[in-house]
Amino acid sequence: MPSDAKLTIDGKTYSLPIVEGTEGERALDITSLRSETGLTALDPAYGNTASCTSGITVIGGDRGILRYRGIPLEEFADKPNFVEVAWLLIFGKLPNSSEYQQFSQRLTNHANLDEDMKHHFMGFPRSAPPMAILSAMISTLSCFHPQLLELHTSDEIEAAAARLISKIRTLAAYTYRHSHGLPYIYPDPSLPYTSNFLHMMFSEPYKRYESSEEVRRALNLVLILHADHEQNCSTSTVRMVGSSRANLFASCAAGVSALWGPLHGGANVKVIEMLEAIHQGNQSADEFINLSKDKSSGIRLMGFGHRIYKNFDPRAMMLRKVCDEMLDTLGIHDPLLDIAKRLEDIALNDEYFVSRKLYPNVDFYSGIILRAIGIPTNMFTVLFAIGRLPGWIAHWHEQNSDPNMRISRPRQIYTGNPKSPYIDVRDRT
Ligand code: SDX
Repeated sequence: MPSDAKLTIDGKTYSLPIVEGTEGERALDITSLRSETGLTALDPAYGNTASCTSGITVIGGDRGILRYRGIPLEEFADKPNFVEVAWLLIFGKLPNSSEYQQFSQRLTNHANLDEDMKHHFMGFPRSAPPMAILSAMISTLSCFHPQLLELHTSDEIEAAAARLISKIRTLAAYTYRHSHGLPYIYPDPSLPYTSNFLHMMFSEPYKRYESSEEVRRALNLVLILHADHEQNCSTSTVRMVGSSRANLFASCAAGVSALWGPLHGGANVKVIEMLEAIHQGNQSADEFINLSKDKSSGIRLMGFGHRIYKNFDPRAMMLRKVCDEMLDTLGIHDPLLDIAKRLEDIALNDEYFVSRKLYPNVDFYSGIILRAIGIPTNMFTVLFAIGRLPGWIAHWHEQNSDPNMRISRPRQIYTGNPKSPYIDVRDRT
């Protein structure tokens, strides 16, 4: 296999090294392109650009693979444990029992918010979008943990990761409680990660919420399936912000904002809105599919398609199975699941979707699971953020551990006005 590529510009030939990753994916190394040729490479939306090397997650678009630190996603399905997957992503290996105990204890110890943070919730209207509150409050956490603004040792990383991963649950639950005028429910140190989140969401001062084993297992798996996905939009945002040596809290707050977009993490909300519109009889599944194929409609089949996966998103397949199992065990019949399956069947046999290799992605079934748990639709992307947080922290840590890290600063091709004179206001048309 050639170790370099030849590039000829204006009669001069240059050599560009070809680098190869663990899974055999290859890239042109263009780090010397501008210094040697004076040219840059234009690639809007970075569809052809590898922004970094990373050892955290690999996804195989054509093979439908997804591995965290080399471990296939499917291996986590039997005994889903979000906390140990978070450790795996951040520190590169599954925790041994003492590491797991210490990290779990740190999550338990740091579930509470500083009491003064509650005043910030009072400043938000009850109708405030939960992702706006989450981003603001993650950034606000940095004000209450100044000792974690600069992280140098592995223990400091673990301390900051524990606070963020633990407190994001509390921030999410209090966001929900505030929006409904409900009293805040303090975390219960006797409860494991997901149970404590559900307790803070749904318990009342006079009545404790007891989650079932099926719900705890399903929620652990949903969070694991969202935990990382290499250089997606929000993770690339965290890396970009972190490259200026902005602190971990500020970088993750930026990741929340990027995730909010309907083309990214916000799609899980749009999927449910789409299914509900069909259920309410506004359109049939067939009519909706036809609309989503018509560019002029501006409508897309939300939860379908992916920049990388040109085969099934393995997460969608696992989430569909969790959907079936959990709803069956809980004795829930959700008509939206029937509609989702109908849409999938139609699309997978429609040339428009088949020719464009559009398959269900992570957002297509996740909302139905969250609905069955009782999570309101406007909180779905917040749940995505809780799942994705360990991935953001892992990428921030990987990048900031690189002694050669530089601030990210892409170039551009200028297409604006040529040099022009200043015109006095009296002479302007
Ligand atoms: C996530 O990057 C990640 O890894 C993200 C994520 C993660 O874990 O971080 O996996 C999470 O964000 C999943 C994606 C959630 N978004 C949606 O479900 C929104 C609906 N999907 C699309 O908007 C779209 O498929 C994207 C955004 C996911 C991918 O967009 P691309 O790669 O830029 O694809 P494109 O817009 O260039 O589409 C290619 C063609 C176009 O048609 P043509 O111009 O070739 O005729 O496919 C069409 C598009 O119009 N198309 C769709 C479609 N998705 C693409 N047509 C109808 N419905 C869709 N959903």
